[in-house]
Amino acid sequence: MTDHVRSDVANGVLTLTLNRPDKKNALTRAMYQALGEAIDGAAAAADVRCILIQAEGDVFTAGNDLGDFAAINRGEPADAARTGGNPLLVALARAVTPVVAAVNGRAVGIGTTMLLHCDLVYAAPAARFRTPFVELALVPEAGSSVLLPALVGARRAAQLLLLGETIDAKTALDWGLINGVVDDPDAAATAAAARLARSAPGALRATRALIRRADREAVREAMRVEGQVFAERLRSPEAMEAFQAFMARRPADFSRF
Ligand code: COA
Repeated sequence: MTDHVRSDVANGVLTLTLNRPDKKNALTRAMYQALGEAIDGAAAAADVRCILIQAEGDVFTAGNDLGDFAAINRGEPADAARTGGNPLLVALARAVTPVVAAVNGRAVGIGTTMLLHCDLVYAAPAARFRTPFVELALVPEAGSSVLLPALVGARRAAQLLLLGETIDAKTALDWGLINGVVDDPDAAATAAAARLARSAPGALRATRALIRRADREAVREAMRVEGQVFAERLRSPEAMEAFQAFMARRPADFSRF
């Protein structure tokens, strides 16, 4: 277990808090493991009727820890967090419990793509959404290659996934990426989660399964193929340049590739 994820159950809601604010809640392998286990565990927990994901600090998450990515790029073996698929994403994709998210600030990379697996998302006016995979010489994950175009349309998905544009909270709302822009997203998400937790649990889970039924196979297949391409790209010389550039706080230069 890691201190970088807090996990509490109260009144039927499992609250998972990203708690690495000094590193902008960048997600490490240990955090993925903890999040994945908690979400998987909720399926069989009679006292959990809803999951709430929130974050400490001013950033929801800066996405995958780029130090971890750089280590894999250098040839360190990918552990279970990568070989069997990212545990957070695998758990989210098979979750049977509704998931609500509160986005307090920037949501980068997986910070945005994980939201595609959440049922209700509330964001602060300061929230920003960005998927800079190509900028990092990577490709989309989390089934976002199918879920994002399905949600916002192919043109807007290209702005996010190809151009790596940042969108603000209002645009995210207009595009249908989130449910609401509110001053206190934690409170809004907590209220929604509490309401779900009070509802008929069987009907709630069945409704969620029905809503996601049509996408389920396509998402699973997309995640399998994305995972293969992602693993290749992660080890590429292009990615090495991108990670070194981030560490050196300089723009990446892909002109030699
Ligand atoms: N992985 C590892 N460390 C990260 C990180 C990441 N994805 N994002 C931020 N950090 C670390 C920084 O290195 C810095 O560490 P330091 O204090 O030891 O130097 C600390 O978190 C604070 O980050 P900083 O960049 O100074 O904060 P900021 O407020 O100026 O900017 C972001 C916040 C999120 C805009 C910026 O950190 C960022 O762009 N991060 C990378 C996002 C990214 O590309 N993620 C991968 C997506 S696939």
